[in-house]
Amino acid sequence: MDNWHIFETQFNNKNNRSLETVYTIGNGYLGTRGTFEEGYPGDQPATLINGFFDDIPIVFTELANTPNWLDLQITANGERLNLKNAVVTDYFRDLNLHNGELTRTLHWEVAAGGHLALEFQRFTSLADEHIVALRCQVKSIDFSGDIEFHSGLSGYADNEGFLHLEWIEQGKIDASSAYLQVETRKTHHTLVEAFSLNLTRGKSSTSEFCDSRMNPFKVEKVHLEPGQEAEIEKIVAIYTSLDASHPKKSAIASLQRAKELGYTALLAQSSAEWQKEWNASNISIQGDDEADRAVRYAIYQLLIAAPRKNEHVSIPAKSLSGFGYKGHVFWDTEVFMLPFFTYTQPKIARRLLMYRYFTLPAARNKANSNNYEGAQFAWESAATGEENTPRWVPLRDGNLVRIWCGDIEHHITSDIAFAIQQYWRVTGDNDFMRNFGAEIILETARFWNSRAEWDEPSNRYHINNVIGPDEYHDRIDNNAYTNNMARWNIQFGLEILEWLKKDSPAKADELEQRLELTPPKLDHWRHVIDHLYLGFDPQTGLYEQFEGFFKRQRVDLATFEPRTESMQAILGIEKTQEFQILKQPDVLMLLYLMNANTSKEILERNFAFYTPVTDSSYGSSLGPPIQAILATRVGDVKTAYDLFRLSAKTDLVDVRGNSGDGIHIATQGGLWQAVIFGFCGLEMTPDGPLVHPKLPPKWKRVQFNILIKGKKYEFDIRPEGKANRNAVLPVQGAIFDLDGVLTDTSELHYRAWKRLADEAGIPFTRADNEFLRGIPRRESLLRILKGRKVSEEKLQEMMERKNQYYVESISLLTKRDLLPGARSLLDSLKTAGIKIGLGSASRNALLVVEKLGIASLFDAIADGASVVHQKPAPDLFLHVAGLLGVSAEYCAVFEDAAAGIEAARAGGMWAIGIGPHERLKNAHWVYPGLNEISVTDLLDRLSGMKKD
Ligand code: BGC
Ligand code: BGC
Repeated sequence: MDNWHIFETQFNNKNNRSLETVYTIGNGYLGTRGTFEEGYPGDQPATLINGFFDDIPIVFTELANTPNWLDLQITANGERLNLKNAVVTDYFRDLNLHNGELTRTLHWEVAAGGHLALEFQRFTSLADEHIVALRCQVKSIDFSGDIEFHSGLSGYADNEGFLHLEWIEQGKIDASSAYLQVETRKTHHTLVEAFSLNLTRGKSSTSEFCDSRMNPFKVEKVHLEPGQEAEIEKIVAIYTSLDASHPKKSAIASLQRAKELGYTALLAQSSAEWQKEWNASNISIQGDDEADRAVRYAIYQLLIAAPRKNEHVSIPAKSLSGFGYKGHVFWDTEVFMLPFFTYTQPKIARRLLMYRYFTLPAARNKANSNNYEGAQFAWESAATGEENTPRWVPLRDGNLVRIWCGDIEHHITSDIAFAIQQYWRVTGDNDFMRNFGAEIILETARFWNSRAEWDEPSNRYHINNVIGPDEYHDRIDNNAYTNNMARWNIQFGLEILEWLKKDSPAKADELEQRLELTPPKLDHWRHVIDHLYLGFDPQTGLYEQFEGFFKRQRVDLATFEPRTESMQAILGIEKTQEFQILKQPDVLMLLYLMNANTSKEILERNFAFYTPVTDSSYGSSLGPPIQAILATRVGDVKTAYDLFRLSAKTDLVDVRGNSGDGIHIATQGGLWQAVIFGFCGLEMTPDGPLVHPKLPPKWKRVQFNILIKGKKYEFDIRPEGKANRNAVLPVQGAIFDLDGVLTDTSELHYRAWKRLADEAGIPFTRADNEFLRGIPRRESLLRILKGRKVSEEKLQEMMERKNQYYVESISLLTKRDLLPGARSLLDSLKTAGIKIGLGSASRNALLVVEKLGIASLFDAIADGASVVHQKPAPDLFLHVAGLLGVSAEYCAVFEDAAAGIEAARAGGMWAIGIGPHERLKNAHWVYPGLNEISVTDLLDRLSGMKKD
């Protein structure tokens, strides 16, 4: 198995909760935990839909579980499949990260006699987020008898004992499908699931539909003899009233469409989307399979958690993979996950930030009700952005403990502002900043300005009574992280206002008025910036985590080893506060975010002081990956690697014992950052992104790509440091001429012209035809007529007729008429993430590529009709580049005609000649045929070449 698979070879009888989390599949709209179709006592089947919240006491609101679409019982001669007591061999479960498909195969020895080979497959579609599907095949090895598939929707889907769903209605749609409509108890969100169950292999002996309330299902019965097999496909469409005005209609219509396609075609569509995601986001690490697989898994988890359409949801702290933290959103999104999206999937990053924009009204309310100005974001946020942190939670001994986070864990507010700045710098998305981001920055700056209290004796502003990232200490004053980030937030407020005044004076005016940003107010901001207590001690170079931290008792955490619990669990909540023990790095987190403002020496001192007292093993899982990055910065690659491995095992090995609650998705985001910003040392400089690699000894090569302001940068890092390439990919769009490059229709043209010429009694030979290569139709006809006089009307008629002959012959083209190497070149360009366009003078270009079976590979197609000036003018190619959204300098044109080469050069593009050197002297590079081209070779060649 390569590093694209997460798999197990044995059925685990005990610890299924954490594995259910690990084998979660999803598409950003929903996530389905990896429970088994047949269900077991104590398992936690769950499909969570982002944004589908219902109210509940104590924790206010939570993502409501939805009907279990996996539900499938199999019986063989009346015996139910149950892995816990059956004799099972050859068990294998595999999550394929390439396309998100989960499969399970096993051999079942039926107690009454005979063996069956079973295969289960399932996926959630990335091409249509409302579609999920499963398939099950049963093959008889030496079994004879009846197999029953019993499958439907189980509406009794609880959240750890609490049922949010109320039955509304259900019914049969047709012989193979039915639906179930339910509603959340308090928020009254409707949900409709429609499913179809079809026997796709084997002969049905009976097929029966059962309409039991809250649990519509169908039973398919098949008789099997040795060697025979049966297969069912179940397709499910899911809609809620949050995403459709008529969820029932939408679900039924969408099921209808999906059912016609069937499992294989639906999976193919979804896989094609996955391919695009991986082109944009994959990282490959050579020399360390464990790291390679863990990082790919982290990216998989981030991708399946990310909303693709909805701007009103974010990513919960346990993604959509478990009930932990109730689906609430924390700073985890902005600080830990967002960088991955900002650098590789900026559209998703933007959507996640839009969620915060839409929750601004609630954040304003929160500030207002606490007597502050501006916007104060909720520590735990859900549908609307209201504060949803529980005030009390029960301890293991049953006692309740007061949780202060919702009241005073303020730093979330500047974390969001920080993420916006990072997003803006990396993407250059001024539109977002202008219309949404700036308002958040200014509102949060207002909050901090009003939150800082003047302290006369010290001549400083203080921010008292808060919780910093290290939650082992609460109700503390002047947390260095909070204060320094607040200061930065106000400062950035001033900067963004200046920027906005230049970029969009009207918007700046409007905000100045609405948010009362008067000159005296802004002076006050400056005063706070200059006088805020920052907790830095110039003598020692240390930041004091909060006022009085240095006076707390220092302990050697080693004396508690070996341990299996957090220091807070060992010492108790109140006792832990007395010590210098950290749940997660606090000052170091600050130094990480404020990277540019910290000297290496200060970083080293703080790292040495705080690292030994940080509870990395059982404190917060958010800490270790970031701590790893800082370790690389102080030159301690060994510690960095240890922390990286610890983070990598968080869910795959469940080292903390709580993965059952859901994926530690912030840790997965941290893992991405540890590779990119830690080991690879990616840094943004005025000259573009640069890397300063500090690879662990095992790593032989790291490859990844990022997008900076719309440009794709490809990195290929090796330990020697010499071969590092961090240039922009020289080719981001490939534009093909058609005739003579992808196919050779000159013979077809020749025959069409010949037929026309014969009919008119004009001599015309193959040699004459050679001179018509790349020449538009009218010009060609004039050349054939060799000065013979014909009326304009006749000319038109002849051109029409020739075209008709030609179109007739096109209809006979098939994919066999592609020139050698064409298909595989197009495929490799796709895999390399390069956009593909067609720019051909031929007016029948689209028809031709359709017949050749390659039309779907093109991101843009344009023909001679699209522009006025034909080749050698660059117009057509420039037009295609525009359609591709790639700037001309990053386009390569593949041409067989001198006029085309000239056109490419005139447009400032790479000109790649296909054919004989003599004809294509002006090309940047010439290949005799497409089958001689390798994409890597081409890119390497062009990387080292100047265009002119
Ligand atoms: C951490 C927080 C985090 C939350 C959700 C807590 O244990 O201390 O920093 O935001 O979990 O993941
Ligand atoms: C986390 C807090 C959270 C609280 C209530 C604690 O375990 O550390 O960040 O607000 O649970 O959900």
